[in-house]
Amino acid sequence: MENTGRERRKLLKGLAGACALGLLLWRFLLPPAQAQQKPLLRVRRDELPAKGGLIYREARVAVLQDAGEIYALSLVCTHLGCTVKVTPNELICPCHGSVFDRQGRVLKGPARGNLQRLTLEEQGESLVVLA
Ligand code: FES
Repeated sequence: MENTGRERRKLLKGLAGACALGLLLWRFLLPPAQAQQKPLLRVRRDELPAKGGLIYREARVAVLQDAGEIYALSLVCTHLGCTVKVTPNELICPCHGSVFDRQGRVLKGPARGNLQRLTLEEQGESLVVLA
């Protein structure tokens, strides 16, 4: 009888340990839930020039169109966070001279990372930039 009680306690401890281990694995192996993206700005599609783009300085976002592709870039420099300037051929950071192509790829440092592409969602005649 005493042996049965000891065996049961041992089994319950084992189950509790397995549950705790399972919860830990669940917590660390699953990717964190993605934060919901919120609309940052709305652009009417007919306002967008066929070749070029629109710059939103306060939002630090450019909505560009090249070869039929429409995309939104963050204008926050990946070096130290200055606002990059958009020229017809490239984007230039005035702080330390990083240069990015119109797709946001680094051409010249010190920035190492490309400019962030923002999610662009079509909603009827509008394009909504999410961040
Ligand atoms: S902040 Fe842009 S190059 Fe340094």
